[in-house]
Amino acid sequence: MRTVILPDNGALTEARLDPKFDPWVEIERLRREKNAVILAHYYQDGEIQDLADFVGDSLDLSRKAAATDADMIVFCGVRFMAEVAKILSPDKTVVLPDADAGCSLEDVCQPDDFARWRAKHPDHIAITYINCSAEVKALSDIIVTSSNAEHIINQLPENQPILLAPDRHLGAYLARKTGREIVLWDGTCIVHDQFSVRELIKLKAAHPDALVSAHPECSTGLLDHADHIGSTRGILDFVLGSPAKEFIVATERHLIHQMEKAAPEKTFFAAPGADGGCSCADCPFMEMNTLEKIYLAMENEAPRIEMPEDLRLRALKPLEKMLEMSPPASAITQAAE
Ligand code: 13P
Ligand code: SF4
Repeated sequence: MRTVILPDNGALTEARLDPKFDPWVEIERLRREKNAVILAHYYQDGEIQDLADFVGDSLDLSRKAAATDADMIVFCGVRFMAEVAKILSPDKTVVLPDADAGCSLEDVCQPDDFARWRAKHPDHIAITYINCSAEVKALSDIIVTSSNAEHIINQLPENQPILLAPDRHLGAYLARKTGREIVLWDGTCIVHDQFSVRELIKLKAAHPDALVSAHPECSTGLLDHADHIGSTRGILDFVLGSPAKEFIVATERHLIHQMEKAAPEKTFFAAPGADGGCSCADCPFMEMNTLEKIYLAMENEAPRIEMPEDLRLRALKPLEKMLEMSPPASAITQAAE
């Protein structure tokens, strides 16, 4: 079931924009007129991050969406993130600049398959990564992000069997960190899964002082070479707090924008893919959003997230559980072992 309402036929489109149109000025006007807040994930293009009222990781953005008093939330990220904003703030208008901005993890975990998987493991608790559809959230017990998953799993009774979907690399990392047996769904993020261990070793050899900070969506083989493992904000906190001067960043490349702004004296290298280049570190879904589409979404109030109230309420329960069980915002950074 799609939860995105598209613009109607009469709506303004990119093709009909005035050639003299200035997206910064027009977005600023609409931000005031519509009492809108612009939330952006760290994987958005630098110019979108700079325009946003708040930039954060999945957990930070969920908390912001739950707490805002704006009338409109402009979610510069991907669909599951905008859905979370709507689930937590149902009275707000939530717009997503591009309705097709999905996620490979969401795609690989369809609700019917997930329901069958759960039914095969009736004694297991379903801990589900936030990178999934509202329907899959509604079938889950607790939602987690990469910054709170370990903390949440550690609160479960020791004899409680666990299912974790959809990211098998995050799941394997959590099983190692918590010492728990976890039954994993076989999904991956297309961005983090393609970093090459071989090319990383070569890059480390060329920059022996560089520390490697990696996202837990990377493969176990790659995480074995990391000096630090954390969510996007965890990675940012680590590089800004470290006395080191060079870092290899194994996550989506646009996080480096915040690092370069906050620590221009440090050097950051994007982790390489199999060809040794780094264009593969761009998320194709995140990059669908543009300034023009942000303006159009605010003007047209579409693409807009809407969902049946019973689905919203079922998806809200495991999200509320996540917020209750999360560590305080200051305690996110995790060290690799
Ligand atoms: P975090 O922002 O929670 O680190 O998630 C990374 C990600 O892949 C979002 O799509
Ligand atoms: Fe999904 Fe990976 Fe893109 Fe995040 S970076 S939205 S997990 S495909």
